Amino acid sequence: MPCIVIGVCGSVAAVRIPELVRELKRKGFEVNCVMTEAAKGIIHPNVLEWASEKPVIEKVTGAVEHVKLCGIGGKADLLLICPATSNTISKIANGIDDTTVTTFAATALGSGKKIAIVPAMHESMYKNPFVKENLEKLKKAGVKILEPKIEENKVKLMDNEKIVQEVLRLLK
Ligand SMILES: Cc1cc2nc3c(=O)[nH]c(=O)nc-3n(C[C@H](O)[C@H](O)[C@H](O)COP(=O)(O)O)c2cc1C
Repeated sequence: MPCIVIGVCGSVAAVRIPELVRELKRKGFEVNCVMTEAAKGIIHPNVLEWASEKPVIEKVTGAVEHVKLCGIGGKADLLLICPATSNTISKIANGIDDTTVTTFAATALGSGKKIAIVPAMHESMYKNPFVKENLEKLKKAGVKILEPKIEENKVKLMDNEKIVQEVLRLLK
């Protein structure tokens, strides 16, 4: 069974993730959820535990969850960071690793795992020249950026259906 790790960040779009997890499970994926502290201010880990039928990774422990899943030879086939905040995007692009999701990303980058990022934020944050530059840096490092739709001055998360299609394409 292919294994996806979803890194959930502190965007209001995190409310869409339980349904996305269910969709991916219906397609036959094993899904492991990793949440930042800010994400837990938006949705409760219980709902992702319910959706994924697995414990949610809320911190990296002595069990080295990041290595077991996203390290060399780790179980994950894809790290999907969704929703990705401007904060997490910029941290990853600059080698900063101080949250659960950035630790998973740093590990996945070093082990050559597939990574996809789905940004969600206000348009003004997206147009921040440093965020743009950081997204370009990530693209150059081989990270797939799933382009968002811009509506009502917001960079909205791509529809779940499209995200699932992109995941299937990436794992083909
Ligand atoms: C209700 C709410 C919604 C937010 N939505 C977004 C968002 O869509 N995109 C974003 O980049 N930041 C958003 N933020 C700000 C982030 O939560 C904040 O920058 C945080 O430090 C991100 O941490 P993380 O990247 O570790 O999850 C939101 C904050 C709150 C309280």
